[in-house]
Amino acid sequence: MAAPSSLASSRLADLSRRAAAVGGGVAVTAPAPQQLRVGGISRRCRAQRVVAMAGSGKFFVGGNWKCNGTKDSVSNLVTELNAATLEPDVDVVVAPPFIYIDQVKSSLTDRIEVSAQNVWIGKGGAYTGEISAEQLVDIGCQWVILGHSERRHIIGEDDQFIGKKAAYALSQNVKVIACIGELLEEREAGKTFDVCFKQMKAFADSITNWADVVIAYEPVWAIGTGKVATPEQAQEVHAAVRDWLKTNVSPEVASSIRIIYGGSVNAANCAELAKKEDIDGFLVGGASLKGPDFATIINSVTSKKVAA
Ligand code: PGA
Repeated sequence: MAAPSSLASSRLADLSRRAAAVGGGVAVTAPAPQQLRVGGISRRCRAQRVVAMAGSGKFFVGGNWKCNGTKDSVSNLVTELNAATLEPDVDVVVAPPFIYIDQVKSSLTDRIEVSAQNVWIGKGGAYTGEISAEQLVDIGCQWVILGHSERRHIIGEDDQFIGKKAAYALSQNVKVIACIGELLEEREAGKTFDVCFKQMKAFADSITNWADVVIAYEPVWAIGTGKVATPEQAQEVHAAVRDWLKTNVSPEVASSIRIIYGGSVNAANCAELAKKEDIDGFLVGGASLKGPDFATIINSVTSKKVAA
């Protein structure tokens, strides 16, 4: 779909405004036509500035199994993961459906930590169908994914609800993979940063302990679609989110936090994405259901080291 010129110029004006607001008035490079079609936000000067701010945290790869699996398939996947050779300098987490967490915890190597895909907003009690942070701790589940687009857009969770869930989980020592990301129409309207910063603000309004948080940037149009963001598109948003954290939380948090990318990451495209300065790892859906592919994605840390 070619962008009509009036739309293109209004988008450029919006991009210029955003770059001035976010990047301190740096010069704006016109997006290439291909980038315009998907609402790219090109700011060459910003990318140079961000090299110095690239994250200092350990590479992190999460596998989000979503609502997939049976006892047998989970058992096979655990066997594959236990047999895989994994680079040592990567934090690895898998998120099975609640009902399989205990099975995974008791059969998976300690090398890989376990996450839930959701948690209740506060202390447990009369909340039919919910699982509390205390219960996750009870079964040795160290992480939870919050703000995933499937819960935002299919279940209808809003920013504030998600922020409060994050705060409560952290208060119980459950670490949080905090997801953000824009819809396709939001990207095409030049609102990618607005959406991501608004979602970030809701987390920041609730979170005080950022040491136990990983940010996952997952553009909704890339999740489960096979349409991965280009390394440049992902880098651009990661850099902007890190810059937002620097201004709105602290330079220390901005530097140390892991900002991982999610959305159709697979064994073939992970290495190019991993080379980008501000991509500190991945949140993987479909490809995390295949042990060898997931191991390849974990081991893409080696291409990051080569690029550094
Ligand atoms: P996908 O899912 O890798 O299947 O696109 C990613 C996610 O939802 O975290």
